[in-house]
Amino acid sequence: MASMSDIAVHRDGATQILRFNRPGKMNALTGAMYDALCDALEAGEKDTEVSVHVFRGANGVFTSGNDISDFLASSTGDQAVLKSVLRFIRLVPQIQKPMLAGVDGPAVGIGTTLLFHCDLVFATPSARFHTPFLDLGLVPEAASSLLMPQRMGYTRAYEMLVLGKPMDAEAMLRAGLLNAIVPPEELEERVIGAATSLAKKPPAALALARRLLRGDAEDVARRVDEEAAIFARQLQSAEAREAFQAFLEKRAPDFSKVGDG
Ligand code: COA
Repeated sequence: MASMSDIAVHRDGATQILRFNRPGKMNALTGAMYDALCDALEAGEKDTEVSVHVFRGANGVFTSGNDISDFLASSTGDQAVLKSVLRFIRLVPQIQKPMLAGVDGPAVGIGTTLLFHCDLVFATPSARFHTPFLDLGLVPEAASSLLMPQRMGYTRAYEMLVLGKPMDAEAMLRAGLLNAIVPPEELEERVIGAATSLAKKPPAALALARRLLRGDAEDVARRVDEEAAIFARQLQSAEAREAFQAFLEKRAPDFSKVGDG
């Protein structure tokens, strides 16, 4: 079980920190957690005292991505979680204030794709970025099929999104996707420091520059929806169900026994 409190929201000056904090489940995200993230992001966007949003993990983990038990429930008919996931991945590209992330340990699925919507990303040497959508019978989400090839080149994006090859912090830094690698004990300070610097910038110019740099939000929104339609269909497939069950039963999946879904 998980609850909204598995997302800890707190303030440090003008920075709103959203912390994935679900011990024992590697901060895997549930519907309630996506809703808590959305509520906090929406409130922060409206709050004149908040200038920057920061995503953080806890206990040496950023997040292991969507809760696989929830995916399994969705694949057998429970659409509630999908609704919360969709709410989150539609909201993130619409956020106007800067989004920063500090990554320590595993950043799986949405834990990595979220970073392509962030403006500054810091990570520790143990950060590990992994998007195993295909191995779960799924397809890329959160506009990652658009943003990852744009940002890291097609072949590297394909390696991550289709081959499911994890990338470590050094590789992400070399690919230009991280601002810096910092020791774990300095991560929080470094991210908050960057957020505090941003909070001192002239707000109108900051918002305008961010919008220009991020490019066409409509393109991103369209891709989110396009991916989501395919993702929802794949979620119902026999191959996805086999992958989820295999993960939960701690065994290798056997796709030879599943048909087309
Ligand atoms: N959903 C549900 N439970 C998850 C989870 C997830 N995404 N990630 C981890 N957990 C659970 C495990 O089932 C395990 O629970 P248990 O102790 O009750 O058996 C617990 O968290 C610890 O995970 P474990 O796999 O034993 O830790 P690890 O250190 O060996 O590996 C990860 C960590 C993150 C590499 C690994 O858990 C993983 O690959 N998770 C799945 C990631 C994933 O595919 N996410 C979906 C992306 S779209």
